Order: sequence, then structure tokens, then C-alpha cells
Amino acid sequence: MTRTNQPLDPTLTGQHADRLEAKLKARVVGQDEAIGHIVNIYQTYLAGMTQPGRPVGNFLFLGPTGSGKTRLVEATAEALVNDAQAVIKVDCAEFQHSHEIAKLIGSPPGYLGHRETHPMLCQEALNQFQTETCKLSFVLFDEIEKASDALWNLLLGILDKATLTLGDNRRVDFSRTLIFMTSNLGATEMESLLRPRLGFGASPDSRETARTNPQLDGKIARTGLEAARKKFTPEFLNRIDKMVVFRPLGEPELRKILDIELRMVQRRVFESPVNVPFVFSLTAGAKEHLLAQGTDVKYGARHLKRVLERNLVHPLSNLIATEQIRARDMVRVDYDHASGRLVFTKEAEDLPEYAMTQLIGSSFTSQLARMAGSVAVEAGRAAGSRGTRRA
Ligand SMILES: Nc1ncnc2c1ncn2[C@@H]1O[C@H](COP(=O)(O)OP(=O)(O)OP(=O)(O)O)[C@@H](O)[C@H]1O
Ligand SMILES: [Mg+2]
Repeated sequence: MTRTNQPLDPTLTGQHADRLEAKLKARVVGQDEAIGHIVNIYQTYLAGMTQPGRPVGNFLFLGPTGSGKTRLVEATAEALVNDAQAVIKVDCAEFQHSHEIAKLIGSPPGYLGHRETHPMLCQEALNQFQTETCKLSFVLFDEIEKASDALWNLLLGILDKATLTLGDNRRVDFSRTLIFMTSNLGATEMESLLRPRLGFGASPDSRETARTNPQLDGKIARTGLEAARKKFTPEFLNRIDKMVVFRPLGEPELRKILDIELRMVQRRVFESPVNVPFVFSLTAGAKEHLLAQGTDVKYGARHLKRVLERNLVHPLSNLIATEQIRARDMVRVDYDHASGRLVFTKEAEDLPEYAMTQLIGSSFTSQLARMAGSVAVEAGRAAGSRGTRRA
């Protein structure tokens, strides 16, 4: 034995947990507390220290609509098993009656339709997205305050013992599952705390968010937690590992989300089956216009996304459909003060692949490779059709 007396640092996280944190922060803006809890639970799981016979983690996410609760769950799945769709989503409001519960757990043998139903929460469904490197599953119960008594009992069993008994008595094991639950409880009260301080209507120094005012941040968190304590029984709350209040999004967060969403639109362009890969960029004026239109305390990023669809995606779609935009074009989107609208200009055409990579970054490599193959084919096919193009 060698005596060392070496101090240790239990606050450090490992490489895998750090990588998860970086991926989540790149996708979800302004909800670092929630991200921190997911990373902690993941690190506990990696160290093999999850409580035996319980799910890997039980989270309750509170907070206003469009603040990133569902997005964070999808981003966690994306970061760990490369698929944002790898989340089994149970919308609690849809499972009020016993025949609806049967969709989740199947009906007992002998009941009509027993053989045809594939319960949503069976073991195969849980395991289907696991990868060689990550054996985790993800289940999301949305709007749990709307769950019926039957669904509550089912949920309590899963949270506590990590098992569920199906209609035909098969058992489902949830011990490798992250369980997320969401609720908008307290959101209205949070909004009223913030309404005078947010948005483009407010004066710049009153555009505070939870991050710029710790007192306000504390109030928002307390409002959410109190609403949950009033509504849910201690029996339920005791089974939750972490209850997190998502903060309403202010202008600085929406600004970052706009950039993330613009990249998503660019990705859509490259992955579209119509196959007209082009590059677009927005001027500062165009971005400001979208932000001014898209900032709304009540609907958070959902409103911004709607504004983006209406003002950018729809016009771009029209330009593609009328062949005014073609593969390898470079399109500039600017804001015209006179008309109060976005204006679209083709800045260049026949961009070489290296120029496209430079413009949109290396995270699009696979899309560019796909494009290189298909555009060559298309170019041959469409060589004669250029003359018929509409002006
Ligand atoms: N904090 C955020 N960071 C990045 N994107 C966000 C954030 N919040 C919302 N978004 C964007 O807005 C969309 C809608 O958000 P999301 O579905 O996560 O809302 P929610 O909090 O689950 O709301 P609801 O309570 O209505 O279900 C997301 O798909 C994402 O594109
Ligand atoms: Mg949601």
C-alpha cells in the first residue's frame, strides 16, 4: 500500500458526458440547468451507479410553451443514439379511457383485437433505437397534468420500479430508460412576471431575461415549482429525480435559435427529395426583421419558427417550384424597408462544391457528397431544358 492523501475533484465530468453537454448546448439555447441535470444523470449511468431497479433518470420539465422542453428530449436522443425520433412520445391528454390505455399496454388475451395491437410501450419498442454504443431508451410523457387515474398508476409503477406489466402479463423493463415528463403548469404566472420586460416593444435596458436578473430568475423558478407542488401528489413528486423549470425565452436566446433554425432550413434544402441544393444567406437586416416579427413571450420559439416558415420557407419554395432557384445557386435574402418585406436575389450560380462547403460549413459534408452525384446526373438530363426556363 502507498499512502497518497491526494485530493480528488468530484465535480469533473468525463469525456463522454462533456461531449453530450456540448452537443446539447449546440442545439438547445438558454436551458443550461436542464442540460446540466441530464449530463449528471448520464455520467452516473456511465459509471454504473444508477439505482438498481429504477429508470436511469426521471425528469419533470416545467415551463412555458415553445421553451425547448420537447426539443431537449429529442436533442438528447440525437446526441446519444443519433436519432431525434428515437423518443416514444405519450401525449397524456390522449389516454383518458381504458380503450386508449390499451394502445399503450395492449389488451388482455381474449379481448377483441388482442393480437393485432402492438402496445406502444412494449420492450421491442423501447429497445428499437438502441445502438452498439448506447443501450438507452427515451420515453416522453407530455402534459402529464392531463393524465387519467389509470395512466397515473401506470406511470407511478414505471417511475418507482422501472417495470410495466402489459395486458398479456409480459413485463417491460425500463431500467435502461430515461423518462421525461412535461407540463405547462405555472406558465401563465411566469409570463405575467415577464411580460413588461421582454420583446422588441420593451426598451433595451428592460429587455431582461432570467439570465440578466437573478432575482427574477429565482421568482420564475419558484413559480413553476410551486404550481407543480400544488397540483401533484408527494407520492409522485418523490419519484422524480429532477424537476426543472424551463425559462421563458427572451430576445438574446431567440437570436441564437434563429441561427440554429436557419441552418435547419439549409439542411432541409440539401435533404429535400426535390433535389435542388442551393445555398442561401440572410443579411443582418433580414435577420432583424425575422426577430422583430418572431419575438413573442407567450409562444416562445414556436412563434419564431412560424414566422420563419411564412417569410422564408414559403417564398423559397415558390422560387424552387418556378425554377427561379436552381441547383448550385447562391441566394441572398435582404430586408426592404420600403415594402417591409424580405427580398430575394440570386447572387451567383453554378457554385463549385468547394465554394458551397465554404459557405455552409463542413457539417454538411454528406449532403454535399450526395449532391455531387445527383447534380451530375441532373445536369446531363436537364441540359436541354434550360432554354424553357421561365424568367
Ligand atoms: N431553448 C430552445 N433552444 C433551441 N430551440 C428551441 C428552444 N425552445 C424551442 N425551440 C424550437 O422551438 C420548437 C418548439 O419547442 P418545443 O417543442 O421544445 O417546445 P416545448 O417547450 O416542448 O413546448 P410545449 O409545452 O408546447 O410542448 C423546437 O422544435 C425548437 O425548434
Ligand atoms: Mg413539448
